[in-house]
Amino acid sequence: MTSQYRMTRFRTAETGNDIFELTHDDPPPVQDGEVLVRFDWISVDPAMSGWTTNKRSYMPPVKPGQIMRAFGIGEVTESKFDGLQVGDWVTGFTGMQTEGVLRGKHFRKVDVSLAPPNHFLSGLGMTGYTGYFGMMDIGQPKPGKTVVVSAAAGAVGTIASQMARNSGARVIGIAGGPTKCAFLTDELKLDGAIDYKNESIKDGLDRECPDGIDVYFDNVGGEILDAVLARINYKGTIVVCGAISQYADWHTQQGPKNYMQLIAQSAKMQGFTMKDYMHRIPEAFTALLTAQKRGDLIFREHIVEGIESFPEAFEMLFSGGNHGKLLIKVR
Ligand SMILES: NC(=O)c1ccc[n+]([C@@H]2O[C@H](COP(=O)([O-])OP(=O)(O)OC[C@H]3O[C@@H](n4cnc5c(N)ncnc54)[C@H](OP(=O)(O)O)[C@@H]3O)[C@@H](O)[C@H]2O)c1
Repeated sequence: MTSQYRMTRFRTAETGNDIFELTHDDPPPVQDGEVLVRFDWISVDPAMSGWTTNKRSYMPPVKPGQIMRAFGIGEVTESKFDGLQVGDWVTGFTGMQTEGVLRGKHFRKVDVSLAPPNHFLSGLGMTGYTGYFGMMDIGQPKPGKTVVVSAAAGAVGTIASQMARNSGARVIGIAGGPTKCAFLTDELKLDGAIDYKNESIKDGLDRECPDGIDVYFDNVGGEILDAVLARINYKGTIVVCGAISQYADWHTQQGPKNYMQLIAQSAKMQGFTMKDYMHRIPEAFTALLTAQKRGDLIFREHIVEGIESFPEAFEMLFSGGNHGKLLIKVR
C-alpha cells in the first residue's frame, strides 16, 4: 500500500503541529521526464516547521492538500527520464511518502556502494553539508580558538562540533540532559559540555569559556544566543544556522538583546542556508566521507520505523527526544 502525509492547513500558533493527515493514494502513471521511486529512508527536519508556515522564507511553503515536503532516498522502479534507470538510487525532495512519481531532473543519483543509503541523509547529506559549510566556510575554526556549538548532540551540531574539533579548536557543546552531554565529551571528544536544561547557561559558559568565545555555531537562538553574545571575543563570528527555540510561534520570536556586543567587539553574525552552497556539494561530500572513513567523524542517527511515525517523530525535534539525525526507515 502506498502511503503519504499531506499538510491539511498552514501551521500557526493555534494549530501547533496538528497539520498532517495520512492518506493512501496510489501514484499516478509515469509520464515523460518522470520516474517512480520507492523510498527507503525519509529525513525529519526542523526546517519542516518553516515549510508549513505561510511566511516569507528561503523557499515557498507547502500548500494545504499537498504531500509534505521532505528529503528522502530510494530506488527507481520505473523510468521515463533519460538520466535514470530502474535500480538507480536517488536522493532529493521526495516528499513524506512511501513511493512517488517525480520529475527525474529533480533527483541526484547516488552511489550506495560508497556508504549505506541512510548516510546520504545524515552525515553525507544536507545535514552533513550544513555542519561542514557553516563551520568551515563561515566559522573558520583554528587552533587556539574557542568554538561553542548549540544543539551539539543533534544532526547538524554533531557534524559542526567534530569539524571544529578536527581543525584543532577548543570545542564546547551545549545540549539538553546528562546523556547527551556525556556523548559530547566521551564519544565526540569535545573539550567540554553544558547541559542547558540542568544548569544556568551563563554559569556553564563562564566555566567552560573563561577566555570568551571566538566562534559560535548557533542552532537554537533565544536566551543561549544572548548569553553567547555577552561573551563574544574581539572579531568573533556567530554562524546563524538555526533558531529552533523560536520556531513554535512566529508572533513571539525573541530577537537578540545583546547585539550591541557586535559593535563593541567588531564581531559578526552571518546566516546561511544550503542554497548558498549547492554548487560545492562534491567538496563537502568528499571531505565528510574521507573523515568518516579515517575514523575522525561519527554520523549519529536516530531511526524510527514506518511512515506512520512521522508526526510523533517531528515533535521529538522540539522536545529533544532525538539523539542525532532523525530518520524514518520506510521499508
Ligand atoms: N541553515 C541551514 O541550511 C540549516 C539546515 C539544516 C538545519 N538547520 C537548523 O539547524 C538546527 C538543528 O537542526 P537539526 O536537523 O540538526 O536538528 P537536531 O539538532 O537533530 O534536533 C533538534 C535539537 O534541537 C534541540 N532543541 C530543541 N528545542 C530547543 C530549545 N528550545 N532550546 C535549545 N535546544 C533545543 C534539541 O536538542 P537538546 O536535547 O540538546 O535540547 C533537539 O534534539 C535547527 O535550528 C535547524 O533549523 C539549518
